[in-house]
Amino acid sequence: MKIGSSALTSPVYVAPMAGVTDAPFRKIAREFGAGLACTEMISSEALVRRHRESFRLMDLGWDQRPVSVQLMGGDPGVMAEAAGADIVDINMGCPVPKVVKTSGGSSLLRDPDRACRVSEAVVGAVAVPVTAKIRLGWDAGTRNFLEMATRLEATGIQGLAVHGRTRAQRYDPFADWAAITQVRAAVGIPVAGSGDLRTADDSVRRIRESGVDAVMLGRGILGNLWLVRQTVARLTTGEVIPDLSWTEQIALIRRHGDLVLDYYGAERGPRLLRKFIAWGLRGFPGAARLRTMVQSVCSPEDVAEVLERAQAIDPGAYRSDADTFDDGSASSEAA
Ligand SMILES: Cc1cc2nc3c(=O)[nH]c(=O)nc-3n(C[C@H](O)[C@H](O)[C@H](O)COP(=O)(O)O)c2cc1C
Repeated sequence: MKIGSSALTSPVYVAPMAGVTDAPFRKIAREFGAGLACTEMISSEALVRRHRESFRLMDLGWDQRPVSVQLMGGDPGVMAEAAGADIVDINMGCPVPKVVKTSGGSSLLRDPDRACRVSEAVVGAVAVPVTAKIRLGWDAGTRNFLEMATRLEATGIQGLAVHGRTRAQRYDPFADWAAITQVRAAVGIPVAGSGDLRTADDSVRRIRESGVDAVMLGRGILGNLWLVRQTVARLTTGEVIPDLSWTEQIALIRRHGDLVLDYYGAERGPRLLRKFIAWGLRGFPGAARLRTMVQSVCSPEDVAEVLERAQAIDPGAYRSDADTFDDGSASSEAA
């Protein structure tokens, strides 16, 4: 499939996730075959004010191309000025009050005219494809996803991602894939579906039932990046790839850790790694104590020690789905 002229190697996207989809995370996801990865959302206001940390979020030096950069904001002029990358994605779903107050994120769902002005401005400002990510509406009474999808398509966007919940629903209950199916049928541009994709079979079933062009993996890959590999294989060759053994999972966490330390350095890296290690150890019996220890990791040596201890406990191959899917949303500025 293609977004504009960018051909994607697989229909598996990595969802934009604030505090998660940084350069090391995207690098591993692409190595596992993801067709497209997206940065964390980046405030257009902060970019225009040349905020250093926001520029870091836009660092694409480690990325396989194409890569998508997600911008957040409600001011058409500022959004247009901030835009740049292979693909620019506009965030129209973030529910966080501080984002909504700036007219960005999901507040654009309440104001489709403004959403279209933002989209038009960004489409007009960049030579690369522009996409948008929406939720189903602001709340149960205003599920305007079909209006949003068709009007945004008319502004010239070249792809749409739909998270099958309203702003009011945040992350519960289950995503409404029937609504995503309706969006797929209503527009001609590629549509990616987002919500509750926890296994490769989930993605197969959702694509079959909804007709979406791509799946967007979110919380299902927190601590389980291997799901990218499994999903890509199921969707492209039909191959069923087993879950990782404990030893393999530790090796993956170690590799992720090495990349994070390399990217952020020995001072900042270990703290950033805490949640990733804790997520990675989730679901394996016997790992609960280690997860507590992870919370005080401060140095590369601490990281190495936790992983050595983890390696030593050998809890077998069991991995409980229920345990692996609690969210990251509580700990992050989730959209
Ligand atoms: C920790 C976290 C951070 C997120 N940050 C963003 C974001 O920056 N931009 C965005 O459009 N969506 C964001 N999302 C929403 C996801 O992209 C995705 O649409 C949502 O989690 C639904 O998929 P899931 O049920 O598979 O998790 C975030 C979600 C989580 C859990």
